[in-house]
Amino acid sequence: MFRFNRAASVCVLTVSALAASTVLFVSGCNNTTTPSSDTKTLYDRLGGDPAIKAVVHDFVGRAAGDKDLNFTRVGKPNHWDATPDNVAKLELHLVQFIESNTGGPKIYEGRDMATVHAGMGITEAEWGLIVGDLKATLAKFNVLQKEQDDLIAVVATTHDQIVGK
Ligand code: HEM
Repeated sequence: MFRFNRAASVCVLTVSALAASTVLFVSGCNNTTTPSSDTKTLYDRLGGDPAIKAVVHDFVGRAAGDKDLNFTRVGKPNHWDATPDNVAKLELHLVQFIESNTGGPKIYEGRDMATVHAGMGITEAEWGLIVGDLKATLAKFNVLQKEQDDLIAVVATTHDQIVGK
């Protein structure tokens, strides 16, 4: 991910070695031709497909393991089994969802948010927990605050289709 800081006249190059779930930072270069973050899509600012896939993978594991959140809806209508096939499909659709809503090339092929989450009885408190899980994942990958905020804003557009249904 590239981020150009015009005020300081230095750019920060972030190389994400995402396959290994590690993030490296190389800072202090002087490349004045790096595009401004203002002109790049959020998809690009997040690091494109490899970065988004890695974030989704970490996020799904974190949310699925968050007992207070009860992502799989144990004991509720529409209980969901976290089988390898189901998890793979969920991750694929989450990646498509994020990429298609941040200016990336992928098309979302999953069901609409209201249909998917209907009958899950997701509460405001659980919404807060899943947003917290996403923030923890973004922090783990050292995603810059502006990109974190912009992605959370995209996710927040789904709130009314998910909570209290
Ligand atoms: C507490 C909050 C949430 C819970 C408990 C939850 C739970 C689930 C579950 C169990 C599934 C699998 C359903 C199935 O395949 O039948 C699912 C699918 C999905 N969820 Fe959520 N979800 C939550 C919030 C969100 C948010 C905030 C987003 C927005 C980014 C989201 C996006 C999706 C997508 C894209 C799918 C896949 C749809 C498909 O395969 O057709 N979910 N969710």
